[in-house]
Amino acid sequence: MLVMNKLRIVSVIFLAAVSIAVISSCSDKRSTGWQYAPNMYEPIAYNPDQPNKNFKNGQTAQTPPAGTVPVGFDPVDVYPNTAEGYQLASQSLSNPLPVTKPTLEEGKTLFLHMCSHCHGLQGQGDGSIIKLGKFPAPPSYSKGTSSRGGAMKDLTDGKIFHTITYGVNLMGPHKYQLTPTERWKIVMYVHELQKLQ
Ligand code: HEC
Repeated sequence: MLVMNKLRIVSVIFLAAVSIAVISSCSDKRSTGWQYAPNMYEPIAYNPDQPNKNFKNGQTAQTPPAGTVPVGFDPVDVYPNTAEGYQLASQSLSNPLPVTKPTLEEGKTLFLHMCSHCHGLQGQGDGSIIKLGKFPAPPSYSKGTSSRGGAMKDLTDGKIFHTITYGVNLMGPHKYQLTPTERWKIVMYVHELQKLQ
């Protein structure tokens, strides 16, 4: 009988202790309590809004350095599809890609796929659809004259980039068929065709 009472007393004390522990663990409202896989809640990396002593201004999120280009930025967006935009692109845009053999090869492949059916394999304005006699021939890159003035062989990086993006007269725009980088590769290859005799 006595043993039973003792057991009861011990278990009551034990239960009371556990309840106090459980209840007191809830008193801190900011505590998250036990966490499963805490790395999910408390990442090692800094959150953008966290203080950060690694930077001079003590912030994690930094202002991008001057001249930074956002992902997906199209340089031609700065130059509208107008005669002024075309001239401005000519003055200000230059190919950001260094001339290398592999890049030129890629430019050639893109040109053959996207331009040669009109402009011809050598850019002489004699592509396959011109030969059908249903489409007026574009001027030759090396011997023709641009409808916007000047010799085709003198067309600048910016003028060619602007033309590929927006098109001109019967030539359609290629802004959404070709990324800016693909367009620059083609511009590089068109310069090669401008040199042909
Ligand atoms: C549907 C046929 C067609 C396709 C495809 C085409 N062009 Fe043209 N392109 C033309 C015609 C036609 C002109 C002449 C337009 C005018 O000046 O009236 C022209 C003009 C140009 C000019 C001269 C622009 C200027 O300032 O006078 C360039 C450069 C040019 N194209 C490059 C390209 C490149 C690069 C591609 C491929 C990405 C391409 N074209 C695709 C038909 C085409």
